[in-house]
Amino acid sequence: MAERFLGEACPPELQDAGERMSVDELRARQLAQLQTTVRAAYENVPHYKAALDGVGFAPDDLRELSDLSRLPFTAKKDLRDNYPFGMFAVPRSEVVRVHASSGTTGRPTVVGYTRGDIDRWADLIARSIRAAGGRAGDVCHVAYGYGLFTGGLGAHYGAERLGCTVVPVSGGMTERQVDLIRDFGAEIVMVTPSYFLSILDEMETRGLDPRDTSLRIGIFGAEPWTEQMRLEVEERTGMHAVDIYGLSEVMGPGVAQECVETKDGLHIWEDHFYPEIIDPVTGEVLPDGSEGELVFTTLTKEAFPVLRYRTRDLTRLLPGTARPGMRRMEKITGRTDDMMIVRGVNVFPTQIEEQLLLVEGLTPHYLCVLTRPNRLDELTVQVEAAPGLLDHAPAARELSHRIKTHIGITATVEVLPPHALERSLGKAKRINDRRKML
Ligand code: DLL
Repeated sequence: MAERFLGEACPPELQDAGERMSVDELRARQLAQLQTTVRAAYENVPHYKAALDGVGFAPDDLRELSDLSRLPFTAKKDLRDNYPFGMFAVPRSEVVRVHASSGTTGRPTVVGYTRGDIDRWADLIARSIRAAGGRAGDVCHVAYGYGLFTGGLGAHYGAERLGCTVVPVSGGMTERQVDLIRDFGAEIVMVTPSYFLSILDEMETRGLDPRDTSLRIGIFGAEPWTEQMRLEVEERTGMHAVDIYGLSEVMGPGVAQECVETKDGLHIWEDHFYPEIIDPVTGEVLPDGSEGELVFTTLTKEAFPVLRYRTRDLTRLLPGTARPGMRRMEKITGRTDDMMIVRGVNVFPTQIEEQLLLVEGLTPHYLCVLTRPNRLDELTVQVEAAPGLLDHAPAARELSHRIKTHIGITATVEVLPPHALERSLGKAKRINDRRKML
């Protein structure tokens, strides 16, 4: 089993100049970059010109970092309204790549990158993999989806930049994933945590012990996952499981990365992205340490700068640890849009995940089903039993009891046989809200 923690701080020789900056240096640089970004957005993107003119803010008014709070937010809708290329701040011919997020409703969100943006993205992913404990020469198995999704190609170029031997598998064909991890001797795997569980299940079905593989590090992200899930994965595999965060609108993966030394939340690469936490209802900026919605302003992006982009992700900003200059964000609890309101109580799927992983005989394959018979919300948690669990009733009772005691809601628990729930190859779907259809 890998040591849980390697120590407190990351040795300076394993950090690049950006990571080693003092807080004062960082703030000075952020201000200069912010001034450049706001000016470029104002001058080149009609949406930002109109938005800043609308609140009477000229780029010259930005004299301190705190002036940022006077700018209007950017929301996903603004990007959709400017579909496909209206938010680009450079001529289309300078955009060397686009990505898009599918979006369940309406138009996808399209994002673009100049050659310089792609280059900086590769540097930041290389930095992220290094912070996760990866090194040049490691075999890196990339099972995030390749294509319009930023996960696969984002991870890919960064792993190459670090000097890894990259295996660009993408998602799917789980049996082959297991063959390739074994045959090529992968040391690092980059994949959504939920799909990694499917890979582990496949190994175990075949009688392979995941602890016997060459895997040392899992870099898991693109969806929320809990501390309990980390413990479960580390115990089953002997690997380090660390968190990577990002979103297409801000760059893709590699906006923030958990350091293997501390595994205590994700260091935000603040030399490229300026974070704020706001009250999701009032929009007021909250002090570090308060829980709220994460908002990002990009500091170095050329093709697609975003000013105060509302991520909808809920977290807190904390002081740096392994990299003292950069603030951390706590592991994401959920998105404002993933919050289930069950008879008035706010619940995130991650809270259910935390509880079910503490019940013997249950697996982290689960789905929260919401219905409204008789005009009252009902939550049913469907969860797969571990292979070999014969009597499901005690586990169902225990989970239901835990949900009542720790979350404060009544839920029906259905323990299903192994493999009863649909598996995702990328981001897992954790909520099936049938209330709207009733
Ligand atoms: O999911 C980028 C990514 C790819 C991140 C691979 C990490 C690894 P989008 O498809 O635009 O981009 O989705 C972004 O996914 O706003 C969060 O809600 C969620 N998300 C991403 N990383 C994490 C994470 C990619 N580590 C949205 N923990 C974000 C929790 C995450 N949620």
